[in-house]
Amino acid sequence: MNKLILLWFVSLLFSCSQKQEKWSEVASGVWKVSAGCPEKMNLLSELELSPNKKAIDEIEKAELPILKGDISIEIVDNKTYIRLPLEKDEKIYGLGLNFKTVEQRGRILNLHVDHYGGADNGRNHAPVPFLVSSRGYGLFINSARYIDCWIGTAVRKDSKNPPIVYDRNTDREWTARPYSDNIEFLVPGKGVEIFVFSGKSMLDVVRRFNLMNGGGVIPPKWALGFWHRVPRLYNSKQALAEIDQFNEHGFPLAVIGLEPGWMSASYPCTYEWDSARFPNPEEFIDSLNKKHIKVNLWMNPYISPKGSLYDNIYPYSASHTVWCGIVPDYTMTEVKENISSHFQKYLLEKGVSGFKMDENDGYDSWLWPDVAKFPSGNSAEQLRQTYGLLMQKTITDLYRKNNIRTFGLVRASNGGGSSFPFVLYNDYYGHREFITALINSSFIGVLWTPEVRASKTADEWLRRMQTVCFSPLAMLNAWAHGTKPWSFPEVTEDIKEIVKLRMRLLPYLYTAFADYAFMGVPPMRAMNLEEGFMYELSQKEGVFDGTDNPYAMSTRMEIKDQFMFGPNILVAPLFAGETSRKVTLPQGKWYDFYTGNYVGEGEIIEVNPGKKIPIYVKDGGIVPMIPAVTVANDRRMPLEIRHYGEKAGHYSLYDDDGETFDYENGEFTRIDIDVKVQNGEKAGKVTIPKGAKVWSYSNFEFKFM
Ligand code: GAL
Repeated sequence: MNKLILLWFVSLLFSCSQKQEKWSEVASGVWKVSAGCPEKMNLLSELELSPNKKAIDEIEKAELPILKGDISIEIVDNKTYIRLPLEKDEKIYGLGLNFKTVEQRGRILNLHVDHYGGADNGRNHAPVPFLVSSRGYGLFINSARYIDCWIGTAVRKDSKNPPIVYDRNTDREWTARPYSDNIEFLVPGKGVEIFVFSGKSMLDVVRRFNLMNGGGVIPPKWALGFWHRVPRLYNSKQALAEIDQFNEHGFPLAVIGLEPGWMSASYPCTYEWDSARFPNPEEFIDSLNKKHIKVNLWMNPYISPKGSLYDNIYPYSASHTVWCGIVPDYTMTEVKENISSHFQKYLLEKGVSGFKMDENDGYDSWLWPDVAKFPSGNSAEQLRQTYGLLMQKTITDLYRKNNIRTFGLVRASNGGGSSFPFVLYNDYYGHREFITALINSSFIGVLWTPEVRASKTADEWLRRMQTVCFSPLAMLNAWAHGTKPWSFPEVTEDIKEIVKLRMRLLPYLYTAFADYAFMGVPPMRAMNLEEGFMYELSQKEGVFDGTDNPYAMSTRMEIKDQFMFGPNILVAPLFAGETSRKVTLPQGKWYDFYTGNYVGEGEIIEVNPGKKIPIYVKDGGIVPMIPAVTVANDRRMPLEIRHYGEKAGHYSLYDDDGETFDYENGEFTRIDIDVKVQNGEKAGKVTIPKGAKVWSYSNFEFKFM
């Protein structure tokens, strides 16, 4: 009896009975709130992230614009209901990698990792439960469950700002979607942990979010060059011949991607070289090294009975198979260890630079169902929401152990993945939607590439190749079509020009990634995250009404087709069939990248760029460039430092060894570049800290545009 009482007492002690939510400030301007009984497994629980609190401390302090009491959390029927207030002019961004919309107010989403099926309904490759409000705060729901969101759609009886009651019979204003003053979430779990972030600007909110997740990522320098994936069944000879063709055509190339055919069997996978197509992987990679080309290998998670890993992984795999392969439970140490030692021995030690981790996003008709069981005891739903993250972590850890940076591709991610060196992609192939996804990726701590595969016309080919060169990963994925950058001869020279420009911009791009890693600033960003991007059009057509309130921005406009690239460059792509477009310029003067000519300020301009992609630089903007190299090599390069406009400029150029993690121990240099302007005269100065090492640049020359 006594024993029973003791047991009951102990179980009471360890059971969760938390009714009231608990708030604690876990970093400057970041609060953790826990309510009810949060589940053990959540989006972050397996990732072992190290928040960069020091960098968060350096972000300007900001009050939370909502009161703690404004966030309501209730546990009902073993589920958690969360409610936030929503003001009249408030805009909501984020909540997943959406492809058609940037603002999420008025939408109902079910956040669920999946391939993108053509509708912004919450099912996508990175349904990150993180929202950014134009009022200057963010909210992250740290749950690995499918989360329902009603973003300004539901109207409560007890609303403080109820909609006007109209009579449909007589009032023209009647609407089927009356005004709603709240955001509501349903998290299927009897408790939850959420994080709330403040920020003087939406960018600061995003930065805090990224830095809490360990910051962004610095790819190895080579990874910022041009990538080409060869057709599915290419062998080593064909792959080498393809590289030679790049050379012959004078096209830069940094990475060759091998698709499923490198493996002895795929779908399901063996992760072993095919002995007929790749009889001597060492020799193959050796020839690549001589050409300064890296190799990236395709894979998916499902393991074939034909492979040597099968028996070892079998006990640690799910109850169900996918494409007749077993599904490893990546939350288990045994899986991580087995996969890592196999990859180390057969792939990393041979010189493989990274992976493209395909098919971990889903598509219900071939994936494991939600009734599948995993040996760790974690649910199929939790595994579905985190599978891409878990694979990214396993591979990232492995490269880190070797002190070699990697950069690769992945089809699924979620909240917490910002420090993993992987870029999302998919099969959807809408060019416009790809750019909208690129914009949305900047709110939620993921990277996205609008990869190029094929096109119907030369015009489309040119426009797609142009935008991919302004993305985190510039890649032609010819796995199915066998396309080459020169597939449409009439635009080959224009494409070569833009690929070369990508190479010229490496110092600028590399620095933008360093700012992502150290300061949480996404390298490619939505216009809404840009300072001085005005929110309201004034009466005067095409002119912005500047206001000092950064949160009053853009309430009337959803910009889905232009974005910021690094700190100073605005990219406004054209799409197939277009000869002109409108470009919305933030406040301050803007200059044409190519000519340095003034184009406007805080207004909408119409441009006819011919075959070029319109790019603009802000007043005082500094853009460091190297000569157009064909491989992202390790030689020291002369640096051309461009300065645009009339204002003085400052730029902090980042440099390190480009391939190891030594930068995390302070092995990097920041070179200060300043341009002063006096009576129209410009003078530039480069300051290298005393004794600092310079890895990449040999001499510095200013070019005043
Ligand atoms: C698809 C992937 C393609 C290509 C193909 C190979 O799932 O999105 O990029 O890798 O598999 O079978």
